[in-house]
Amino acid sequence: MNRPQISSVTRLVALGALASLALAGAASAAAVDPEPITFYGDVAAVLQQECQVCHRPNGANLGGMVAPMALTTYEETRPWARSIARQVASRAMPPWDAAPEHNGVFANERTLTQEEIDLLVRWAESGAPAGDPADAPAPIDWPSSDGWLIGEPDLVLQFDEPYFVEDDVEDLYIYFQTTVTEEMIPEDRFVKAIEFRPGSPAVHHIIVPGLGGIAPGNDPVIHEDGMADVLKAGRNLSWQMHYHKEPGPGTGSWDQSSVALKFYGKDEEVKYEVFNADMGKYDFAVPPGESDYTIQTEWTFPSDSEIVGYLPHMHLRGKAAKYEAYYPDGSHEVLLDVPNYDFNWQTTYKYKDRKKVPEGTRVVLTTVFDNSEDNPANPDPTETVRWGEPTTDEMSFGFMSYINEENKGRGAFQGGDGLDLTAVVAFSDESRDGKMQLDEAPGGVKQYFEMMDQNKDGAVDMEEAKAANAFLEQMAEQREQAEAAAAGAAGG
Ligand code: HEC
Repeated sequence: MNRPQISSVTRLVALGALASLALAGAASAAAVDPEPITFYGDVAAVLQQECQVCHRPNGANLGGMVAPMALTTYEETRPWARSIARQVASRAMPPWDAAPEHNGVFANERTLTQEEIDLLVRWAESGAPAGDPADAPAPIDWPSSDGWLIGEPDLVLQFDEPYFVEDDVEDLYIYFQTTVTEEMIPEDRFVKAIEFRPGSPAVHHIIVPGLGGIAPGNDPVIHEDGMADVLKAGRNLSWQMHYHKEPGPGTGSWDQSSVALKFYGKDEEVKYEVFNADMGKYDFAVPPGESDYTIQTEWTFPSDSEIVGYLPHMHLRGKAAKYEAYYPDGSHEVLLDVPNYDFNWQTTYKYKDRKKVPEGTRVVLTTVFDNSEDNPANPDPTETVRWGEPTTDEMSFGFMSYINEENKGRGAFQGGDGLDLTAVVAFSDESRDGKMQLDEAPGGVKQYFEMMDQNKDGAVDMEEAKAANAFLEQMAEQREQAEAAAAGAAGG
């Protein structure tokens, strides 16, 4: 990471020596600080490098997380000096939840050095002086307010009509459609970058299967050169919107959220499609008051691959997340440890240098939930919490993007061999009774409904979904054995 050259880091060290000298002599406090830390001389450079990407007028909007104040001028910054000291000392700012052992590993890391923290704290403690404007670093020329972080997009998609989120809405889940017409893209395109922009402060999250989505704190997706998502021509995109706000008169607002795409040129080489494993669990129940409820899921790489990044996802009871690799040679490694998960910062941890993993590497995701009253974010510690889309329900996901030479894999939630029927039940349960009714079942699943509904109560519950999973697995195994036998017969 490029760190600013802070002249005062060396000065700080000198300051300590000077301070003891001064103490020995003079009595006045001013004499202790012969060369105080100033805004223009020292602090501005740190704010520029580490804070202003968000803390500036019209700063970054990361999935609806917009910094409440600008920290570009002395006048803007001075009133926040103490708050800044507190936020950086507790490492709440800048927002970055990976354990310190990962420092230097991820490309989008947002951390301060201990020297930078000390500098901001000592500046606040010494009365937050301005210093000499002549010492100020040249201001950064940030992109204009309505610019996209991914640069000029090739295509911006919106749902067709703006939608009014009514005054009385607190939580609302609603789907919209957009067709990617032939005029927009006549043929499949490789996508270089994707940036969602919520159209209203009431937008809590957006999911568009095929393009991903955005939740609080998400960065836009910008693939490395030669790596891409694929956008199929003529496909319908469905926008799964979650609106969340305080209900009440005058709180309604219009929304027409959008997503901007940048494509690769026809003659640009795309070597890798980026795939996404979605380690998820759907059938869990976190008991009331439980402070350490742990879920583990795992995923095995079917071929030599390179991991691009991770995105752990939980809701308000989410406490910690960990990805660990168990290699075929028996060795083990912690890939990502997030000891203090913060729902408001849905961070994608993107490698500087992709992590190479051999075929057969097993990745185990551990998520931990705190449903006790000690969790300040917990909306209700007396409730049993199950899978569900509202933030007051829970999710346990570990997304992991990867590439491989064969370009073989699948995107998140695209099923494949291991179609997980507990996931189908969880996602289709619109009535939110923990079961999938026949009219809730997706088209392809309806025909198997009766077979799955073993107790014939007209609904498929999680136990029945698990039994169906086991049945599918058995069928797949038998098929494999039969194929192997046939191949053996043909060969011999
Ligand atoms: C990635 C964007 C981002 C970066 C980088 C960032 N902030 Fe923030 N900051 C926010 C957002 C959003 C909030 C409000 C929500 C929150 O507190 O989490 C915030 C809140 C704060 C607050 C508390 C404001 C209040 O209302 O009490 C302070 C102080 C602060 N930031 C200081 C800093 C400093 C200093 C830096 C750099 C060292 C920094 N931030 C870097 C986005 C950012």
